[in-house]
Amino acid sequence: MLGIGAYRPQRVVSNAEVCELLDSTPEWIFERTGINNRRWISGDETIRSIAAAAGERALKNTPIDPTLIGAVILCTSSWLKLTPHGAPSVASDLGLNGVAAFDLTSGCGGFGYGLGVAADLIRAGSADYVLVIGAETMTVGLDKSDRGTAMIFGDGAGAVVVGPAEENGISPTVWGSDGENAEAIAQNLDFQAFQTRAQELQGTDPAVEPVGQMSLRMEGPKVFRWAAVTLPRALSAALDASGVAKEDIEVFIPHQANARINELMKKNLGLADNIPMANDIENTGNTSAASIPLAMEEMLVTGKAKGGQLALLLGFGAGLSYAGQVVVLPPAPSETSF
Ligand code: COA
Repeated sequence: MLGIGAYRPQRVVSNAEVCELLDSTPEWIFERTGINNRRWISGDETIRSIAAAAGERALKNTPIDPTLIGAVILCTSSWLKLTPHGAPSVASDLGLNGVAAFDLTSGCGGFGYGLGVAADLIRAGSADYVLVIGAETMTVGLDKSDRGTAMIFGDGAGAVVVGPAEENGISPTVWGSDGENAEAIAQNLDFQAFQTRAQELQGTDPAVEPVGQMSLRMEGPKVFRWAAVTLPRALSAALDASGVAKEDIEVFIPHQANARINELMKKNLGLADNIPMANDIENTGNTSAASIPLAMEEMLVTGKAKGGQLALLLGFGAGLSYAGQVVVLPPAPSETSF
């Protein structure tokens, strides 16, 4: 990873504000999730604008000519259309019109998947440099009265430039999925069901219920249990695949889903107490596929981590899927999201 950039939406939303619509308390939210604040898009901020803003910063923070970028991977579950997908438009906003550009949807594990694909594209010779962007506007489909999701998710974007190196800086990706339990994190309606309900409403029959919102639902405790069993194994496998000893890991950057899950993972893996662990969730919330690059940027900007250190990454979420690597951290960015 040669450079990193991020974008945090302007609007900061506190637990107290979330509780204006949600039957909960700021204390409960912090205790169970580790979240105090999150960012929500406002004004003219969109998934496209925040993805491009993060990508632009990553390019500025990388000492290469941007025209060398051969592919743009947009990791997201928030792009509002399946057709056209988002990456070509974002690439064009970045002055990269014409490059290979595709979206990668793998829920909150999306950035880990994208980073793995980028490294493999470079190793295979399909591209010299790849821009990987994780961007989400989770609040667009958020039911702000739903106790299982409303307090958790936020918006944001982070991006890295991946390129060739003398020494391997991204280990083989350890990844997997559990489709048998995929419905544990799911939209409440698919597009067809939504359309059918909309058509039913075309008549003005007052007996027909309003179509409602297409929103995300999560069986939190079920996901928590899956995470407790699956993720420690995934972390050990990522260490084995990298050939790096646990004692040599200098920074731990798990997906920012829940601070309690992360504390448990760190403890169960046996990482030393003094190894810094990302805690961007406290003020950024869970930004799904954007959370790892956002957390990485926060650690580099604040000095909790340094460029060149060995970091263990693990993304996980919808699917239920996960992807992790051991990486060499990029240099601290000069253009930051703060
Ligand atoms: N505010 C206040 N109380 C709430 C609440 C809320 N938003 N949601 C649930 N509760 C209550 C429940 O009614 C229950 O009350 P009871 O004990 O009187 O029955 C109690 O709190 C515990 O509910 P539970 O659903 O077991 O909470 P939890 O501790 O599991 O926390 C999550 C909920 C969603 C924070 C947690 O399960 C989680 O983070 N899961 C994993 C998420 C994840 O990793 N996702 C993957 C990536 S997106």
